[in-house]
Amino acid sequence: ILPEEVTLIEVGPRDGLQNESKHVQEKDKIAFIHALQEAGITEMELTSFVSPKWVPQMADAAHIVKKTKKVGKQIVLAPNEKGANLALEAGARSIAVFVGVSNSFNKNNINRTTDESIEALKPVILKLKEQGIYVRACISTAFYCPFEGKINPDSVVELCLRFIEMGIDELSVADTVGRANPRESFELFKKLIDELPNVLLTAHFHDTRKMALANIFAAMQAGIDRFDSSAGGLGGCPFSPGATGNVATEDVAHMMDSLNIHTGISVKKVCEAVAVIAPHVSHPIDTGMYRLFLNA
Ligand code: HMG
Ligand code: MG
Repeated sequence: ILPEEVTLIEVGPRDGLQNESKHVQEKDKIAFIHALQEAGITEMELTSFVSPKWVPQMADAAHIVKKTKKVGKQIVLAPNEKGANLALEAGARSIAVFVGVSNSFNKNNINRTTDESIEALKPVILKLKEQGIYVRACISTAFYCPFEGKINPDSVVELCLRFIEMGIDELSVADTVGRANPRESFELFKKLIDELPNVLLTAHFHDTRKMALANIFAAMQAGIDRFDSSAGGLGGCPFSPGATGNVATEDVAHMMDSLNIHTGISVKKVCEAVAVIAPHVSHPIDTGMYRLFLNA
């Protein structure tokens, strides 16, 4: 049984651009975000409040939040208390924290073990919840770790439960390296739906091995109806060697259209948004629907 409707959470301006080697100007990021809003995107990761030494591309985070139109749920990432405070100062009302199931990945990404990260994030999350902030927790390396290999699904459940206890609103569970297959996708998401108390669950697939659409379909069969995606298939985590972009929003939206599943998103307008950012990234964009759009 498939859902009648799914929500796509756009992560292009954040996950997409964070890995871009060429500096993208603030005005071009803002034009990209506005074009995505025009396409019907209602939930979007705009930017991240991380160390500019680690991720120089996101150094303009406060400006991005302040200068973009407030449409739907606008999420920003924060790895720690400092990031969360800067995000609040800029006016953010939805904040995503991120932790890897795998210790080695977490160390590489935020310079802490998974336990250290959780302990440090706990008071931050409690404070955010007291202030009525929407908190999303991104669970990285939920299937495979670039350093440790296959991840035990029980550890994913355990980590998710720790966040749920802190009162988070949403979990975004990620195949960071793009190595999961549809069977693994179905089984992990089925397990999470069965074993976690009621929580908003989102699936986040990278398309490194071109399995993301199949993984989304399998997760949908398990009962998931929220997916992160990135216009133009941009991106990848700079601290996950070999990981490429997220699954492309235009390709996911098209798959849903063809399945008669409502998204509220215009594929053509997403492609127009991709055309806005394409000249400013250092590699060609070659997703299925964008290629058709260019040739139309
Ligand atoms: P650290 O060096 O251990 O930090 O990095 P620290 O606490 O020791 O502080 C060092 C300096 O950084 C200090 O400044 C701090 O003030 C500053 P100094 O005294 O040297 O001038 N600092 C900050 N500045 C701005 N914003 C902050 C901040 N925090 C400290 N928030 C840290 C630790 C977490 C900061 C660093 O490792 C970092 O920024 N990492 C970010 C990594 C990142 O952005 N990864 C990509 C996002 S996650 C992802 O893509 C996965 C996801 O898509 C899901 C999936 O696919 O798996 C979500
Ligand atoms: Mg990601």
